[in-house]
Amino acid sequence: MGRYASALEIYGRFLYASTFGSYLFVPKSKFTERDVPDLTEKVVIVTGGNAGIGKAICKVVLLEKNAKVYLATRSEARAKAAIAELLVETGKEASWLELDLSSLQSIEKAATEFHSKETKLHILFNNAGVLSFSDALTADGYDITFGTNVLGHFYFTELLIPALYRASTPEHKSRVINLSSQMGIIGVSAFGSGLDFSTFKDSPTRRKIFGYTSYSQSKLGNTVHTQEFARRYGNKIISVSVHPGQISAETLDPSSALSQFLFKLVLYPTPMGAITPLYGGTSPEVENLNGEYLTQWARLGTPRSNDPVLGKELWTWLEEQVEGREYLVTIRVEVASLN
Ligand SMILES: NC(=O)c1ccc[n+]([C@@H]2O[C@H](COP(=O)([O-])OP(=O)(O)OC[C@H]3O[C@@H](n4cnc5c(N)ncnc54)[C@H](OP(=O)(O)O)[C@@H]3O)[C@@H](O)[C@H]2O)c1
Repeated sequence: MGRYASALEIYGRFLYASTFGSYLFVPKSKFTERDVPDLTEKVVIVTGGNAGIGKAICKVVLLEKNAKVYLATRSEARAKAAIAELLVETGKEASWLELDLSSLQSIEKAATEFHSKETKLHILFNNAGVLSFSDALTADGYDITFGTNVLGHFYFTELLIPALYRASTPEHKSRVINLSSQMGIIGVSAFGSGLDFSTFKDSPTRRKIFGYTSYSQSKLGNTVHTQEFARRYGNKIISVSVHPGQISAETLDPSSALSQFLFKLVLYPTPMGAITPLYGGTSPEVENLNGEYLTQWARLGTPRSNDPVLGKELWTWLEEQVEGREYLVTIRVEVASLN
């Protein structure tokens, strides 16, 4: 995340990790990468597949299980470097799908590009995430964290529904795995529902909230979005949200040497972060867990909220942000014809 980390941020980051001490002592996973079935002829997208947990999902398992993998990321240089590294390690070549989740236009371009290459999408890992300590906004004027993590993934997923539908069979429904976080449970206690809609766009309230608060509510947003998505698309698509564990990776990696040192003491190695998302994406058990929240390692967790009223409220807000966009209208017509 390359940003200047103040003493407060370092303290917050360390607190973040140490608060979850109880999660450091969890039972060993019954699910390992060896349990991932062969994925020959399956098409998979991993957003943020060039780094951290996303790269571990691609590297440790997917390429070795023969899936056709798209790394959906914004930087060509970082994508190409990751693809080259994965090629050396697995002997398989992933493809780059250019995607900047902080721009609705870029999301449309990425979906168009994907639809021009593939008719089916079997598994979508909505893994990319940002934790910002700045006042930055997305290209469309949303809080960078909520706009990228929640609105961006919501819109990307909506535009991919036709391919997810085509890949779905009654025996093997297609899957959408949304990376949430334990932060979405305890990090947003300041807000009654856990979501303060007045902070999603620029506002005086937004400018007052701490980076972790914004991140936490975006991660809760990922879970609430998943629950509502499951209610709406559950006949064809299985969707779960996932806390991957406290994992050493770039989003949460502090920029100072001191905090890097502290973090190394409490975080799990990056490949372990792939276990629970992969369980969500590929285990037959998850056919019965639509809309659920999974936690480390490959276990059913308890979300902060599972309130259909909040789900509907968030969904309505998300839809309003993209309503009337020409490309979405086309996609909706296609989805209706596939129903
Ligand atoms: N690590 C943990 O302990 C932990 C715990 C709970 C939840 N999570 C969640 O797990 C997911 C992966 O985290 P991580 O730790 O592996 O993070 P990471 O190493 O920092 O990787 C984040 C990925 O997201 C991509 N990304 C950021 N902004 C983007 C944008 N606007 N458009 C497209 N891609 C974008 C990054 O691409 P660039 O290389 O271009 O920046 C990078 O590939 C996140 O959703 C995070 O919230 C992580």
